[in-house]
Amino acid sequence: MTGAGSSKPDLWWRKGVIYQIYPRSFQDSNGDGIGDLEGVRQRLDYLVWLGVDAIWISPFYPSPMHDFGYDVADYCGVDPMFGTLESFDAVVADAHARGLRIILDFVPNHTSIEHPWFQESRTGQGPRRDWYIWRDAAPSGGPPNNWISNFGGPAWSFDAVRGQYYHHAFLPEQPDVDWRNPKLRDAMHEALRFWLARGVDGFRLDAVWHVVKDEALRDNPPNDTWTAKQPDIERLLQIHSADQPGAHEVIAGMRKVTEEFGERLVIAELYLPVDRIVAYYGEDLRGAHLPFNFQLIAAPWNAAGLGDLIEAYEAALPRGGWPNWVLGNHDRARIAARVGPAQARVAAMLLLTLRGTPTFYYGDELGIGEVEIPPDRIRDPWALREPGLGVGRDPERTPMQWDASPHAGFSTHEPWLPLTPDWASRSVAAQRADPASMLSLTRALLHYRRAHESLSLGTFRRLASEGDVLAYERRSGDEWTTVVLNLGASPTLWRPPVGSPGMTVVMSTHCDRSDEAVVEMLPLRGDEGVILAGEAR
Ligand code: GLC
Ligand code: CA
Repeated sequence: MTGAGSSKPDLWWRKGVIYQIYPRSFQDSNGDGIGDLEGVRQRLDYLVWLGVDAIWISPFYPSPMHDFGYDVADYCGVDPMFGTLESFDAVVADAHARGLRIILDFVPNHTSIEHPWFQESRTGQGPRRDWYIWRDAAPSGGPPNNWISNFGGPAWSFDAVRGQYYHHAFLPEQPDVDWRNPKLRDAMHEALRFWLARGVDGFRLDAVWHVVKDEALRDNPPNDTWTAKQPDIERLLQIHSADQPGAHEVIAGMRKVTEEFGERLVIAELYLPVDRIVAYYGEDLRGAHLPFNFQLIAAPWNAAGLGDLIEAYEAALPRGGWPNWVLGNHDRARIAARVGPAQARVAAMLLLTLRGTPTFYYGDELGIGEVEIPPDRIRDPWALREPGLGVGRDPERTPMQWDASPHAGFSTHEPWLPLTPDWASRSVAAQRADPASMLSLTRALLHYRRAHESLSLGTFRRLASEGDVLAYERRSGDEWTTVVLNLGASPTLWRPPVGSPGMTVVMSTHCDRSDEAVVEMLPLRGDEGVILAGEAR
């Protein structure tokens, strides 16, 4: 059993659920086919109704949009496509009035090539000449080392203005800044303060495992298992270009800035193995409050594997480190596309009953699955740079589907990405009216979690199970909650462990069971998960 006594239960984000909004795709308010901040504001009541506690909004800063806003040209503004600072302030005010928190996406690793800092730096003159990672060509000509961009091709581009190469972990239009430079650090900290003073409740730090690179820029070693079916970035092992010890200090520095404003949440985006993720809680837990745990995104979907992974993660957490779980985001295939619509319901129950803060991705509450993107509508720069590998991120970025009006109530104009073929029925309006829909299930889970401290703050213990069944218990004081998930498509039985409390089924992923006492064995249908309430006896 893990978790007992290690938490300060007053912190909202331990109990709360975070909902990620990709603002291009949530709600368009001005008929250009692209979502915006005023659109987010108009939909806040929906989020309150759904039962989430905080929204994380992907970037809306001024940007040439080579990577849809993850290429920031001004850290302290709003792109006109998304609105104005006033529209942002209105989102914060209206969200706070409804008890919702706002988390911004901060992009510390790189700016846009159009950022004035880069424009100055490339001249090789002035106080910002060393704010980026500039190097001469290798003695033999070509890039200074063998590093590869996450989107394929060399991680170095030659700048004719300066006559040197600059480093970019992502697109050539996203030059990496140099966090070893104290002036750059100060400028980034000032940008954080700009938003903290406007009332934001926290930050998700983008690509933060990249912020510090090996000082000597040593070559990365080859990955001997790489095949041409994998993206270019996987050709090398990223041991010198990312996840360097200095990253922890950078995060601790940003966390400290947030603390000038009281308790604010710091989340770190990290694609790393578990033992590396947990290091990002930092020394004495001065790093990220929540180093994103993406294991459910990559895990093979079977009961034994998931059970082992959950226990291993719980065991790896540092003392006092609060866990978190993520099922999907704007960079990875949607959960319903990965495991199918039936298991997506089981996955929602898993996410919302595990110990740790869940991050829920917009549209997953409708069970949006695979969306086919016709070749002429592909927008993701990674898909365009490395076609045919299935790395495209457009399928998980399609517009939210609100109702059966034209363009699903998302816009009055053709949206920037297509809707699902079944959008008219796979919408908030349609699913709200159906008590067994994915939306109704998600809402019921969110509200049940909120009402039961065993599920938010309680301890976690895996229970014995066989075959396709994953079972665990959450407990807080006298409140026991047991979760039993059938990860397979065939009916099965689960036997509660000897000495279990009396248990009653309170919810099923099929939305048709409640008030049913468990007598010896619990029958489960294929693809069914249930929540059981137990009384200590
Ligand atoms: C993060 C973002 C991703 C973006 C990349 C570069 O991984 O989630 O969407 O492309 O950083 O900023
Ligand atoms: Ca718009």
